[in-house]
Formats: sequence, C-alpha cells, structure tokens
Amino acid sequence: MARVFITRSLPFPAVAELAERHDVDVWEGELPPPPDQLRARAADADALLTMVTDRVDAALFDAAPNLRVVANLAVGSDNIDLDEARRRGIPVGVTPGVLTEATADLAFALILAAARRLPQAAEAVRRGEWRTWEPAGFLGLELHGATLAVVGAGRIGQAVARRARAFGMEVIEVRSADPLEPALERADVVSLHTPLTPQTRHLIDAAALRRMKPTAILVNTARGGVVDQDALIEALHAGTIAAAALDVTDPEPLPADHPLLRAPNVLVVPHIGSATGRTRARMAEMAVANIEAGLAGEPLPHPV
Ligand code: DGY
Repeated sequence: MARVFITRSLPFPAVAELAERHDVDVWEGELPPPPDQLRARAADADALLTMVTDRVDAALFDAAPNLRVVANLAVGSDNIDLDEARRRGIPVGVTPGVLTEATADLAFALILAAARRLPQAAEAVRRGEWRTWEPAGFLGLELHGATLAVVGAGRIGQAVARRARAFGMEVIEVRSADPLEPALERADVVSLHTPLTPQTRHLIDAAALRRMKPTAILVNTARGGVVDQDALIEALHAGTIAAAALDVTDPEPLPADHPLLRAPNVLVVPHIGSATGRTRARMAEMAVANIEAGLAGEPLPHPV
C-alpha cells in the first residue's frame, strides 16, 4: 500500500476511492498546512495531492525522500518548483480542461458585474439609498458592441472569448507573441488568462495601465502576480482605468485591511474560478488518476 498525503480535506468520490486502495493521510485543518507541518506530514509519503496554497519546493522534496508523484489540484503549477521536481525525476500532474468553463463563467460574471456596477448598486440598496428611479444613476458599460482584449488565448481565454462574442462584443485575442499595447489601447475590457511565469509577472504594470482607456475595466482570473497590484491601486485612485474585478490577488488571501480593498471601483472575490461542485469533483478525479499513474511508474495522464 502506498502512502498518500492530501493537504486538504477533499469531499469527492474519487478521493474516497483512493483511500480504499492506499494509505491516505489527510490534513485535517481548515487552513493549509504551514510549511513545517507539510514537510513533517510528507516525510513518509509516496505521493502528494497538493493545492495551489501549498509551496512545493526543494525543502519539501528533501523532507519527502520516498516521493514518486505530486498531483496538484489545479491547472496552474506556479506553486511548484518544477525545475526541482524535474531534477529529481518526480512527475508533476495538474488538472487541465475540466475547469475551463467554470473559470470562464466566473470571468464573465466579473466582467458583467464591473461593467454594470453591480457591487456599487447592490450596496446602495443595502444602505437605504434607493430613493427613486435615477435617469443617470449607475450608468455602466454596455457590453454589446464593446471590445474585449483576452490576454492569453488558451483554453480559458478562448472560452471567455466565446461568451463575449455571444454578447455581441468584439474580441481581440492576445497570444504571448503578440504585442499587448495595441490591444490595451483599444479594449473596453481587458481579461487576463496567462499562467504566472517570470515573463508574465507584472505584465500589467503602471505603463500597461496607462495604455488602457480611462473607461476600461481590468479583469483577472489568472494569477495575482500577473498584475503589479501597487500600480493598479494607484491607477484606480487616479482614474487611469475605471474599474478592476479580481478573482486572484497578490498575496492570497488578501488581508481585509489591504489598500486594494479601499481603492475605488474594485471588486475582489476569493479565488473561486473553478469553484463549482462538478468542476472540483472532476479536478479530484484527474488528480487521483495522476497519483495512480505516478505510483505505478507510468506516465501521468495529465502532466504539467
Ligand atoms: C487553478 O486550477 O490553477 C486555479 O487557480 C484553482 O482552481
């Protein structure tokens, strides 16, 4: 029986089945294991099922000498030192494809919410400020006929583009080889879908924000580090752009007293892009399939 350490409780059938076949140890906390606890619990593990909240690095690999596979419950892998895993011959698996539609839905929900100023309007009702129908109240951006720049036109970016076209938007897909600036200048909404790499860290910096229209909305469902958050806060205060709607921030979680939350016209949700029951259950299935293959010494079905 192989020993598998799972860093969070995962209430999905695939994981229950994994526990019938292997000696499965599950971190019982509601918060992720701190690094020293992660190392201690991984010490005799043959396989790890990790989350985006776990840092999988050389120190963890050193602490887990039996490790034969790491399965991340995510399509992203920026929490894992992939060079170090490769150097040690430890295969790393991810969960591509199954979260595309759920994440694109969330990106579009953020686009709509920011465009039609839903958080501000709902808050006004809650505060008792709905006095009458306002001819010029809460005027927002009409998506029909507006232009969306999809930065990173992979699976999720293209799923967002499909939704945008169905709403009558014009879509500019920006791939990694394409120049970003012309798209930023034309777009009414910029939606980010690139992985976080050394090349994409702070891709949206002060200079990029200055290229955007003062009426434009920035949406990020990729990784917080793709945006220079200090520059974004400044841009929102200065009116360089109109609004930002973010599923991801830097850091995560974002402290409740973080200056980003005091910036005008910002909507932040807590990294819920893939958070539907069906998607998370399918991600768990893929992670379990990666673990089984890694333990059997076979190529992972869903490698990084
Ligand atoms: C991912 O899969 O990388 C998301 O950020 C978490 O679902």
